[in-house]
Amino acid sequence: MKKKTKAKQSPTVSVTKTKPKQNHHALMDMASVLYREREISRRVKELSWDIERDYAGKDLVVVSLLNGTVMFLADLVRYLDMPLRLDFMGVSSYGKSTKSGKVVFTKELKLDVKGRDVLLVDDILDTGKTLALVTSKLKKLKPRSLKVCVLLSKSARRTEKVVADYVGFEIPDAFVVGYGLDFAERYRNLPFIGILKPGIYQEAVKK
Ligand code: IMP
Ligand code: MG
Repeated sequence: MKKKTKAKQSPTVSVTKTKPKQNHHALMDMASVLYREREISRRVKELSWDIERDYAGKDLVVVSLLNGTVMFLADLVRYLDMPLRLDFMGVSSYGKSTKSGKVVFTKELKLDVKGRDVLLVDDILDTGKTLALVTSKLKKLKPRSLKVCVLLSKSARRTEKVVADYVGFEIPDAFVVGYGLDFAERYRNLPFIGILKPGIYQEAVKK
């Protein structure tokens, strides 16, 4: 007779009370919070539906610009219920200032995008200098199509002829941080998007 075996017990999970994340340290540096976690998530989901519809049956390569897109990209591609390839380009345009500086490439593409449908993802479209440069570089690689998706757009500051095909939020002319966006490499980890108090960057520029 077969010996009865006991069903395997799942490991006990200790339930500890977790403190809700409040980000007091960062909130003190914000003039206001523009978008909370939930609103961002809802909007990113909507963007993913548009992208799914437009790229159905296509050979999609998502090209993301480091470092500001980390959060947005991670959420967006998880919502995209379709086959795709992912690659990164590194660009850097700011130092310890909030003004657009010289755009420098810090990482090149690895995938061959020739004949493929490329969706370029960036955190924010400000003057448009970065995306003008990156799109002209990508066009030389002869993708079948090239579209741009940004989480935020500050149309008021545009100096270049760059149009984003997918825009999460149109925002006022203010310096924002959080959800991947930084000031001097800080605040990227915040789950919300906030307007940084001008005093913070005015101080840093003086230093
Ligand atoms: P653009 O070249 O002026 O369009 O600037 C684009 C890049 O500047 C973005 O990818 C961001 O990295 C950065 N940037 C522009 N505006 C902001 C902002 O308000 N907060 C943080 N980064 C910004
Ligand atoms: Mg950026």
